[in-house]
Amino acid sequence: MNSALQHQEPNAASAIERYRAHAEGYDASAARTMRLRRRTIAALKLGRGDAVLDVACGTGLSFPLLVAAVGREGRVTGVELSPDMARRARDRIASAGWSNVMLIEAAAEDAALAGPFDAVLFNFTHDVLQSPAALARLFASVAPGARVAASGSKLLPRWLAPANFLVRRMNGPYLTTFAGLRQPWRYLTEYVPDLAVRTALWGAGYVAFGHYTPR
Ligand SMILES: C[S@@+](CC[C@H](N)C(=O)[O-])C[C@H]1O[C@@H](n2cnc3c(N)ncnc32)[C@H](O)[C@@H]1O
Repeated sequence: MNSALQHQEPNAASAIERYRAHAEGYDASAARTMRLRRRTIAALKLGRGDAVLDVACGTGLSFPLLVAAVGREGRVTGVELSPDMARRARDRIASAGWSNVMLIEAAAEDAALAGPFDAVLFNFTHDVLQSPAALARLFASVAPGARVAASGSKLLPRWLAPANFLVRRMNGPYLTTFAGLRQPWRYLTEYVPDLAVRTALWGAGYVAFGHYTPR
C-alpha cells in the first residue's frame, strides 16, 4: 500500500502499516514538536494523584512528563493502535520501572478503559480526533469536568493556502486522512464545549484545551 495514500476517513489498517515504517525513527522525528508537547501537557494542569489518559500514545514520549506530574500516587494509561509503536511504549515503561503506567494496545474505538480519568491528552492524534466512534468510546471513561488538551497540525489560514501543499506533504506520512485538517478539533467540541483553541507552529499547528462536559 502507498503510505502517502489518504482516505476519506481514518483507516486503522493503513495507520498500522505506516507506523510499522515510522516506529524506529519516531522519537527523533518528534523532537521538533517537543515544545508544543510540553505546552499541551502543561494545559492539563495535572496534579499529584490524577489519572491521565494518553490517547494514541505512540512510543510513550509523553510518559515521563505525565508521570512526573501525577506522581507515584497517580496513574497514566496509554492507548495505542500500532503494535510497533506500542512495543516501544512498553519497553519505555519497563526500562523506567514505572508501576503506575499502563499500556492498552487497541484502537481507541474498541479500547477497554479503566476510568474514570481526570485528564485526557490528544498529542498529535489527528486520526483519532476525526473518528466520532473513538471519541464516544474514550469519553465514556472520562470524569465530568476532566481537563482535556489536544495539539497537532492543521492547515494554514486561507490567505496562506498555497503553502498548504507543504503542510500536507510533511504530515501525510503520519495521518491516514486529511479530512478535518482545517479544524482538527471539530468533533472534540461536542465533548469539550469550552474548548479554547490557540495557534502554534506559525499557523500550521494548534493547541486546544477545555473541560469535558457530558451531553
Ligand atoms: C503522530 S503519532 C503520535 C503519537 C503520540 N501521541 C505522540 O505524541 O508522540 C499518531 C499515533 O496515533 C496512533 N493511532 C492512529 N489511529 C489510532 C486509533 N484509532 N487508535 C489508537 N491509536 C491510533 C498511531 O498508531 C500513532 O502511534
